[in-house]
Amino acid sequence: MPHPSLFQPLQLGSITLPNRIIMAPLTRMRAGAGNVPTALNAKYYAQRATAGLIIAEGTAVSQQGQGYPNAPGIYTQEQLDGWKTVTEAVHSRGGRIFLQIAHNGRNSQSSFMPDGGPPVAPSAIPPTLPGFTSDGRQVPIETPRPLRLEDISPIVDSFTLASRKAIQGRLRRSRAASLQQPLDRSVPGRRIKHPVGRLRGFHRQSDALPS
Ligand SMILES: Cc1cc2nc3c(=O)[nH]c(=O)nc-3n(C[C@H](O)[C@H](O)[C@H](O)COP(=O)(O)O)c2cc1C
Repeated sequence: MPHPSLFQPLQLGSITLPNRIIMAPLTRMRAGAGNVPTALNAKYYAQRATAGLIIAEGTAVSQQGQGYPNAPGIYTQEQLDGWKTVTEAVHSRGGRIFLQIAHNGRNSQSSFMPDGGPPVAPSAIPPTLPGFTSDGRQVPIETPRPLRLEDISPIVDSFTLASRKAIQGRLRRSRAASLQQPLDRSVPGRRIKHPVGRLRGFHRQSDALPS
């Protein structure tokens, strides 16, 4: 059976990839102060513009969604302006770039949290990844605070706002969330009834946005 070549085009929804090489999202922790993408991020992605598609690194939808030092966000105007320099650099070299918007859930640490409390997650189950503070020190992992029902809507809204910003920054969205994973799969969520229903709403709401 003939196989298409890696170097043949691929139609992906409304966009045509000139080849089938897709760069996986890679958290590089190279954003600047305020989790703003910098000239270094623009250079890094522009250097990879000949890929059929770049899926840019996991990018936090809110301060609460941050989990890695110097990882970019997409919830402030400065971050959006930083992403615009990245997309301009990639597009000027003929590339295509999606943004992976994410909430790190339990894979975070209290130094990232706006209230200084523990990170939030569907259940109080500690992460399996090592913990890092926002200034880059490795510390013991923390047990997350289980989300209350009233915590869910602001998180859903943060994905919608991040999606809008991504569109303004000429980024298409590729959605991922450490928070979402334990809800969608059997591990390791203990409280799934309400959040799953709400997250389904989030999928519909976020999918309804133009990409
Ligand atoms: C340094 C590093 C950073 C990563 N960052 C992300 C990320 O931001 N988002 C994500 O979904 N996956 C991330 N991954 C996972 C990769 O995208 C990829 O899925 C993983 O390395 C497995 O790839 P493979 O199946 O080709 O070996 C990361 C992996 C590495 C090694």
